[in-house]
Amino acid sequence: MSDAWRPPPARCAGGVIFVPASDLMNSIEYRYGNDLSVESAIELYNASGLGERRPVDDPQIFADMLRHANLTVTAWDGDLLVGIARSVTDFSYVGYVSDLAVRRSHQKLGIGGQLIQKTREKMGPRSMLVLLSAPQAVEYYPRVGFTQHPSAWVLRAGDPFPK
Ligand SMILES: CC(C)(COP(=O)(O)OP(=O)(O)OC[C@H]1O[C@@H](n2cnc3c(N)ncnc32)[C@H](O)[C@@H]1OP(=O)(O)O)[C@@H](O)C(=O)NCCC(=O)NCCS
Repeated sequence: MSDAWRPPPARCAGGVIFVPASDLMNSIEYRYGNDLSVESAIELYNASGLGERRPVDDPQIFADMLRHANLTVTAWDGDLLVGIARSVTDFSYVGYVSDLAVRRSHQKLGIGGQLIQKTREKMGPRSMLVLLSAPQAVEYYPRVGFTQHPSAWVLRAGDPFPK
C-alpha cells in the first residue's frame, strides 16, 4: 500500500455529503453576462425566496428582465446557477441593482457579497449602487455597508400620473 497523500473521506450522514463552506466558496464561479435561460433564472428566483416578489409566472416579463438588464453577474456551483445580481447602469455615475438573489442552499456563504463586489467593479470606481430592498433583506444591506436613503420614491405600474 502506497503512503502517498490521499484526500480525506467526505463526511457523509444519511446519504448527504457535507462539503466544508470554505471549499464550496472557493469552487463558485462568477460570470458576467445574461447567457442563461428564462427557466433556470425563474428556478433560481424561486429557490432563493425572491420569486415571491417577482413575476415568476410571466416568462415574457422575465425574458425582458434578463435581456434588457445591462449588467448581470451570475454565480455557478458547477452547472447549477446559485446566484444572480441584475442591474441597469450607465457604468459611470449610478447603477440600479434590480435583483440580488442567492439560492437558499448557498446563502450566508459570501456569494451575495461577491455578486455586489463584482457588480461594483464593473460599474466603475465613481458609480454608486442604488436598490430597493425586499423585506427579508432589510437587515442585510446595512450589514454589508449600504446606507438607507430617506427619500426613495416609486410610481408603480398602473398608478395614476399625474395624480
Ligand atoms: C439577501 C441575500 C442576497 C444575501 O446573500 P448571501 O449570499 O446569503 O449573503 P452573504 O453570505 O454575502 O452575507 C454577508 C453577511 O450578511 C448576513 N446575511 C445574509 N443574509 C442576510 C439577511 N437576509 N439578513 C441579515 N443578514 C444577512 C450573513 O450572515 C453574513 O454575515 P457575516 O458576515 O456576519 O457572516 C440572500 O440571502 C437572498 O437571496 N435572500 C433572498 C432574496 C432576497 O431577499 N434578495 C434581496 C432582494 S433586494
